[in-house]
Amino acid sequence: MKTDRAPISFAVNGTPVSVSVAPMRRLSSVLRDELGLTGTKVGCDAGDCGACTVLLGNQPVCACLMPAAAAEGASIRTVEGLGEQALSALQASFLAHGAAQCGICTPGMLMAATALLEHVAQPSEEQVRDALGGVLCRCTGYRKIIDAVVEAWRSVSPSRHCDLHLPAGHAVGASPVRLDGVPKVTGSEKFGGDSFPTDALAVLVVRSPYHRAAFRFSDLDAFKATPGIVAIFTAADIGGVNRFGVIPSFADQPALAETEVRFRGEAVALVACEPWAARDLDMATFPIEWRELSSTLEPAQAQTSDAALLHADRPGNVLVRGFVERGEPDAALAAATCTVTGQIETSYVEHAYIEPEAGYAFADDGMLTIVACTQAPHLDREETAGILGLSTDKVRIVPTATGGGFGSKIDVSLQPLIGLVALKTGRPAALAYTRSESMASTTKRHPATMTATIGADARGMVRGMVFDGEFNTGAYASFGPTVANRVPVHACGPYVTPNYRASARAIHTNGPISGAFRGFGVPQATIMQETLFDELADMLGIDRLQLRRNNALRNGCETVTGQRLEGGVGIGECLDKLEPHWRRALDEAEAFNAASESIKRGVGIASCWYGCGNTSLPNPSTIRLGIAAEGNVVLHQGAVDIGQGSNTVIAQIAADALGLPLSNFTLRGADTAITPDAGKTSASRQTYVSGRAAEKAARALRDKLLRHANASPAAHLYLENGMLTVWEGETRRHIDLSRLERDAGGLVFAAEESYDPPTLPLDAKGQGKPYAVYGYGAQIAELEIDLRLGTVSLRKFTAAHDVGKAINPLLAVGQIEGGIAQGIGMALMEEYIPGRTENLHDYLIPTIGDVPSIETILVEVPDPEGPFGAKGLGEHVLIPTAPAILNAIRHATGVSVRKVPATPTRIMEALRGVRSS
Ligand code: FES
Repeated sequence: MKTDRAPISFAVNGTPVSVSVAPMRRLSSVLRDELGLTGTKVGCDAGDCGACTVLLGNQPVCACLMPAAAAEGASIRTVEGLGEQALSALQASFLAHGAAQCGICTPGMLMAATALLEHVAQPSEEQVRDALGGVLCRCTGYRKIIDAVVEAWRSVSPSRHCDLHLPAGHAVGASPVRLDGVPKVTGSEKFGGDSFPTDALAVLVVRSPYHRAAFRFSDLDAFKATPGIVAIFTAADIGGVNRFGVIPSFADQPALAETEVRFRGEAVALVACEPWAARDLDMATFPIEWRELSSTLEPAQAQTSDAALLHADRPGNVLVRGFVERGEPDAALAAATCTVTGQIETSYVEHAYIEPEAGYAFADDGMLTIVACTQAPHLDREETAGILGLSTDKVRIVPTATGGGFGSKIDVSLQPLIGLVALKTGRPAALAYTRSESMASTTKRHPATMTATIGADARGMVRGMVFDGEFNTGAYASFGPTVANRVPVHACGPYVTPNYRASARAIHTNGPISGAFRGFGVPQATIMQETLFDELADMLGIDRLQLRRNNALRNGCETVTGQRLEGGVGIGECLDKLEPHWRRALDEAEAFNAASESIKRGVGIASCWYGCGNTSLPNPSTIRLGIAAEGNVVLHQGAVDIGQGSNTVIAQIAADALGLPLSNFTLRGADTAITPDAGKTSASRQTYVSGRAAEKAARALRDKLLRHANASPAAHLYLENGMLTVWEGETRRHIDLSRLERDAGGLVFAAEESYDPPTLPLDAKGQGKPYAVYGYGAQIAELEIDLRLGTVSLRKFTAAHDVGKAINPLLAVGQIEGGIAQGIGMALMEEYIPGRTENLHDYLIPTIGDVPSIETILVEVPDPEGPFGAKGLGEHVLIPTAPAILNAIRHATGVSVRKVPATPTRIMEALRGVRSS
């Protein structure tokens, strides 16, 4: 039934507006869909995330909770009203401090902070935390947001502190303002749901309410006769291969299920309708009959026969197993002076990026174009083309800004669905997942059950380790094979382990699909290993940091895969840098605990290492850049920036390799029709792999320019007003670019280069060279715990990360702070429960009040393979956080929590267990 409209008048950013809408329509929808003010974001439609925060008068409100009728006569302010002529001091401060990463939360943060600053010009950190407590950020860890608001009164000019006009050769190592930063702080950035064509059909997805069920459709024609419905599509309408997966040999997931669903939330049909009809359509009446089948959410008993290890297509089976063995682990453990054994269980973790998946598709002149948020445009193109039966050159993927993506936006989700509707109807088709839909249908972090034993000699040198882990990969493969392969390589931590055996199995269940999530299983395995290291240190009577330092990998060491690390190993330096902080924290905790009974302080430490890029698989990136006739350097930057900063970092690398300043650069963003394939934004590979491709392309372009000018490599370049000047000593050669022949892209000089990390396959025992570059880090967690309640209060993190070379230190620190925030969530609060977790009010992620101060130490041990020595760091930074917290809990209480997250209930259970024993 269509809801009656009513005229509603109010002011937006000082301008009177009048709309005719249903009075109960959400104000957020009216602002975005009727007035085009898409700076106001929608993350949950339930008042949980605060992305839609606007000002009603002077008060921040969630526009998604406010009916349009309540705005009658009111004055509303949105992010578009801040600094209309120039950036406001607050916006400039956000830019200068690097407070916007993906930027999806930024408008809400800015509006909440504006309300605060209008009352308190120079707020304290506490006041900022209180004022911004209702707005969630999944990227930044909040520290830079706090700094930006506290410092806004200084009216810091981002151009003064983050100078884009750095002289040539000085971009690497500087912190210029991020090149894509201004649209993020003005609200003009277009995310997946911000630019739907007005004539687009709305697409609704029918999903399974059961973990496993058979189904059949009944009278689809009758439902299709509902006013406003244009078409209904099922698996029978799919023209290609109705199976996809990021790893082609494991492609097992249908875009639309055919006769049976394997997980709750699986898509079975699409309803394409007019947008007005979508708002009122009762999808509960969709004609489908379900027959629930027996299911399991827990991993079944592992099958270990070789046949089962290959590729099972039934839930409950082993999908794949990874394995690494070196030396004689059983003999080494038997001979060890001291051994420790433990078991750890972890939970499903939801990505909880603030932007649910969104995008639109249209078919034009034989080309299907999809405009959507993503981490992997070229992969999207391949998978979408395969599903829809198109050749890849007939599919174009144009990524929008991506409002957070930590792995889940690598898998295609809505792309083939909206593509199908656009192809079949000839009309644009648009879809923005609801929060519940996003949570139910997209991938999670693998829940893991792990056991391990580590043995050491009397001096505390690790002699051997065995590890076994079972990873619940859910209904379909996704990145299950990647996790199973990556975990055994990393489960020893960044330590010399001469005798070692590790196995990991990805197990099918009827739970949500587990896929890529910042670390591919390594965060779980590191919890197992690092908590055992603490027990080992205590048993041996060795300081916990010192035990790690004694065993740390060094240049020239061999890893558990037999890879000799020739250079760039910085874990020892990270631990050295933490040493004084460790002593100070332990002394403070000891003094505090001597005077406190019910509240105890704990200090924990944990390390990480992480291979950058795919595990022993090809992983190339290609970057193109050139000089345009107009006199600017055009960088085709296909490495999708999901907030981590690749747009800026790769440009910095290219600028210094080319020898021109960053101010000469113009970005052409990712678009499969324009930019070469720079691979997926995953596996901490973009700074290293795409950065190295950019470095090669820039050096090749420089060579071309110098050859054209007949100059030597020592010559300098200067680019201004369409003129390239090459000078060397007293000689100057001026090249009028407008006189040169342009290519199809308008470039008069161009170069394109690829880089693929030099890895080697792993043999049957997991021996080989899985990664060309590793990054390293260690973190200290300080906390207080209330022994009566089991509640944890974090006091401080100190993080030392070896990034090889900090291409952009401000962005690197931002990554570390954001990773720590996600690690806090994993350690203490985040647990996705299939069938029960529906939204961000029943899935808690850290708020601005949950992240304590973070002191970051950037360690630079250059890697010979990385661009300017740089290593990746995006995933590394989350890995040590949870084990450092668990080790701090154990230090404070004497108990080990064996199920993560360590909620107050679980901590109290562990305490009761010790007290009653
Ligand atoms: Fe806050 Fe991405 S920058 S959610």
